[in-house]
Amino acid sequence: MPIQTPSGTAKETMEPAFKIPDKGMFVSDYNKEIFAATRMPELVKILDTTLRDGEQTPNVALSSDDKLKIAQALDELGVDIIEAGFAVNSEGEADAIKKIAGAGLKAEICSLCRASTSDIDAALKCDVDSVHIFLATSKVHLEKKLRITREEARDKAVVSVQYAKDHGLIAEFSCEDGTRTELEFLDVVHKAIQEVGVDRIDIPDTVGVMTPPAMTQFVAEIKKSVKVPLAVHCHDDFGLSVANSLAGILGGAEEIHCTINGLGERAGNAALEEVVMGLLAFYNVKTNINSRKMAFVSRLVSQLTGIAVPPNKAIVGENAFSHESGIHVHGVLSECSTYEPMRPEIVGKERTFVVGKHSGVHAIQNKLREYGLELNPDQMKEVVTRVKKWAESGKKLDDAELLAVAYDVMGQEAEPAIKLEEFTVFTGLNFTPTATVVLSIDGEVRRASETGVGPIDASMSAMRAAVSKNIVLQEYRLEAITGGSNALCEVTVKLGDCEDAKLLSLGKSVGSDIVTTSVDAMVEGLNRLWHRKLNANVGKEKRRAY
Ligand code: KIV
Ligand code: ZN
Repeated sequence: MPIQTPSGTAKETMEPAFKIPDKGMFVSDYNKEIFAATRMPELVKILDTTLRDGEQTPNVALSSDDKLKIAQALDELGVDIIEAGFAVNSEGEADAIKKIAGAGLKAEICSLCRASTSDIDAALKCDVDSVHIFLATSKVHLEKKLRITREEARDKAVVSVQYAKDHGLIAEFSCEDGTRTELEFLDVVHKAIQEVGVDRIDIPDTVGVMTPPAMTQFVAEIKKSVKVPLAVHCHDDFGLSVANSLAGILGGAEEIHCTINGLGERAGNAALEEVVMGLLAFYNVKTNINSRKMAFVSRLVSQLTGIAVPPNKAIVGENAFSHESGIHVHGVLSECSTYEPMRPEIVGKERTFVVGKHSGVHAIQNKLREYGLELNPDQMKEVVTRVKKWAESGKKLDDAELLAVAYDVMGQEAEPAIKLEEFTVFTGLNFTPTATVVLSIDGEVRRASETGVGPIDASMSAMRAAVSKNIVLQEYRLEAITGGSNALCEVTVKLGDCEDAKLLSLGKSVGSDIVTTSVDAMVEGLNRLWHRKLNANVGKEKRRAY
């Protein structure tokens, strides 16, 4: 059959697959052709297992309080079922599950259990709504790990589901290593547990060994003898967990197990953010997830677990909506769908333009305009040349360096108007940190003292007070360049003016003392703001910046 174009005409008279966007998602219309024939569920349920499988990520251990914070965020995100932990695992784990179950969340709160009544008793003590019971069914697990026969496995499954139902719980059941279990035996277990009232059946791809077409077929085959809703639980060992989860929906599943940022055992589980956006973009299948909160929840989970989100991670990675190359920036500036598959705000992100080796005039001009700088064509050409040279030498160029280049080219990085004459800071235990600065501004001496929550805060406030109360510290970034207590640090400050949103400046410094390095960065930032203000005021015949 010839592949159909989006307009339905055959390939020979092909029209472009691209259509001007409507819903803020710009995927290929060819997807519609492929999936048009498949019956899709109207809504897919999301079971989030960040607090259980996600916590099985090597080196992750969350406190009860942090688990509660994540559960609350998941609830606000719109997750249907929160797998809050494995109650029988430890007292701490049970305590966290109980706290989450008692927090009045909208989501169904679930505990993982082995197919054993004592595990279910532990879950019951936590007041959960549901249990996710699992028992391995593949030959290798039965023979080498559990050392039980298939009949024994089937009976254990039945007894545990019966016990959960007798105690008023919602019961979801997983044949662990399901995708390496013979279909005939899965059928036996699924039939037996349906007879005792199982509510949902999950199909785990425990070691991530399926391909999407196989997953679709496998789920469809299982569905023939299953009357309750089916879920899929896919691991990412071959990087296919999201594709396999979506494929499972094509096969007839109605629920997906996933985790924030794709955390989980080994290579992790299917990432919630990718699964949800994939369902919507490719199949037009909805979930209860509020996608605009995804970036926030991703950051929260990363902070609390200590597992950084890779910059190139789909949907929520730092680079997911960043553009560097000149051609791409030019395209995105005229129409974002040229190089973006969806609008960043849909997932709570912002588009960024990064200046580097591949940047052209458009990217650099756009970045400088963010700071209110307008350069003439010759100046722009010079800035672009210098930026490329800088980047080619292998050095990272951030906004502060770009501004320094631009100011230099514009001849505005002349003699600094603001000089630091004196600086003292007092700090200690049971003592309010206090900083005093003496600055000379175009020869006029100004002095200010301020307190703060720490020595840096006090110093930043004193410097702002000495120049102008209009100055706002919009961002303060501290990075350690080397290790040890005598490490080199890099401080960047971003300053704004509360009366003029377009007045922005950056200052940056490197040193071994974080307080004095912060002060140096502030002096640079203040000088740039001063020059900008002076320039802005020229037409108004004002000699002073502030
Ligand atoms: O990956 C898996 O098989 C699991 C089970 C507990 C369902 O996490
Ligand atoms: Zn798992």
